[in-house]
Amino acid sequence: MTHRDDAPGDDHDAVAGGHGDAPGDDHDDVHPGTHRGDVPPHNRAATDGGVGERRPPEGAAENPAVRRLADWDADRLRRLADDHGTPLYVIDLDRVRQNAARLEAAFPDADRRYAVKAHSGNAVLETIRETELDAECASAGEVKRALDAGFSGAEIQYTAVNPPSEDLDFVVDAWQEEPEITITAGAEDTVDRLRERGYDGRLCIRVNPGVGAGHHEKVRVGADAKFGVPYDRAEEIVADAADDFEVVGIHAHAGSGISGDDLQNHRELVRRMGDLARAVIADGTEIEFVDVGGGFGVPYREDEPPLDLDAVAAATREALGEVDAQLAVEPGRYLVADAGVLLTRINTVKNAPETTLVGVDAGMTTLLRPAMYDAYHALRSLAPDAPDRTVEPATVTGPICESSDVFCEDRPLPAPARDDLLAIGNAGAYGYEMASTYNTRPRPAEVALSGDDSRLARRRETLSDLTALEAR
Ligand code: LLP
Repeated sequence: MTHRDDAPGDDHDAVAGGHGDAPGDDHDDVHPGTHRGDVPPHNRAATDGGVGERRPPEGAAENPAVRRLADWDADRLRRLADDHGTPLYVIDLDRVRQNAARLEAAFPDADRRYAVKAHSGNAVLETIRETELDAECASAGEVKRALDAGFSGAEIQYTAVNPPSEDLDFVVDAWQEEPEITITAGAEDTVDRLRERGYDGRLCIRVNPGVGAGHHEKVRVGADAKFGVPYDRAEEIVADAADDFEVVGIHAHAGSGISGDDLQNHRELVRRMGDLARAVIADGTEIEFVDVGGGFGVPYREDEPPLDLDAVAAATREALGEVDAQLAVEPGRYLVADAGVLLTRINTVKNAPETTLVGVDAGMTTLLRPAMYDAYHALRSLAPDAPDRTVEPATVTGPICESSDVFCEDRPLPAPARDDLLAIGNAGAYGYEMASTYNTRPRPAEVALSGDDSRLARRRETLSDLTALEAR
């Protein structure tokens, strides 16, 4: 169903917590504009990456570095919740386009790939494809989604992490049809299994850079032996693989949600990858790209400044140094996080002695990040009269029988009442994607916005969907 909403208005009512969007710069020791001028053209969508000059993104004024929860149109969100019910994910494809435009402006001459795992919904993937980013896929399922959304093999990188046989079989089959697909292997064992399947196509070797970064211990993967071949053996493994495959690149990923001081670690990763690339090339393996992963952080707190992506890009190029190969980046969160909100309705208000407990219809099965990483997500009451209510601390919990099913504790919120609508910010990345059906709870619906249009992008799961797999 597609229908037209009323013209979006901009009301900033009822925001819980502060709101400031002055772009901050926590890494100003970098010089935007200094980057390599020797970048060979790559196989697709060469952008206009001028040397030493960066054109401002089109309509820079209308494309701020962050969209805050307060910037969403409350009337429109209320209408969507009325039309589609709650819990409801809303993804604004225009904001995805804006995020892609800023990424392009910061990294005009790099290979830009979208980490599909952040949000693999078809509406997002089709939008991403239109912005000419490639797709970085973590599983056969994500490769299938990318193909379904119209990405060609040349636009798909499959990053195999301890791949089940079914995944390798699927991707090798896809390669028969799409010979330009690239497979990234993070273990010699995986390389052997590709050989066994007769694969001799484009191969990238994932390296464990020995340095991690990210918003939480659980997402700092750069130094985790699970990911990538050991750094000090990488040169030899690349040379060995080059006998049987078309080795096209090397890859490393530090972790997810990188900002502030952590950027130093990312830079160190890039420096190490630059050294490795030079060694590999000196050994006679011509690679196309050096992929330094994703991980660009976005502000989750209302007063947190956004990354200065231009400065990050300049520092990245500087750390990489002169390399006869293309820089590649593969962010996920940066493209979709602030393009999404989760709408949820209050069903229970309980005044306990220590706090007000607010029960909502979304839970850790809908948005897992707070339970899994203690992640902070901004919260906004969309009750029309919220600005007139007194603000009081509230603990917001879901309907799941787990004490970790808590979105926030003692968060200042306009006095909550049953049936109030709440919006949860930055839900576009790793939101629906990590939803589960625990407690036999159906996953929510998702609505995609584009201009004034809205359409149901994924219908709400039903109880029959959930029981359909049972053998009886
Ligand atoms: N490339 C690789 C190989 C990755 O493993 C990841 C994320 C990315 C790129 C994209 O990272 P991003 O730009 O989105 O930070 N569920 C966690 C995040 C886990 C990310 C795993 N890998 C969260 O909700 O914070």
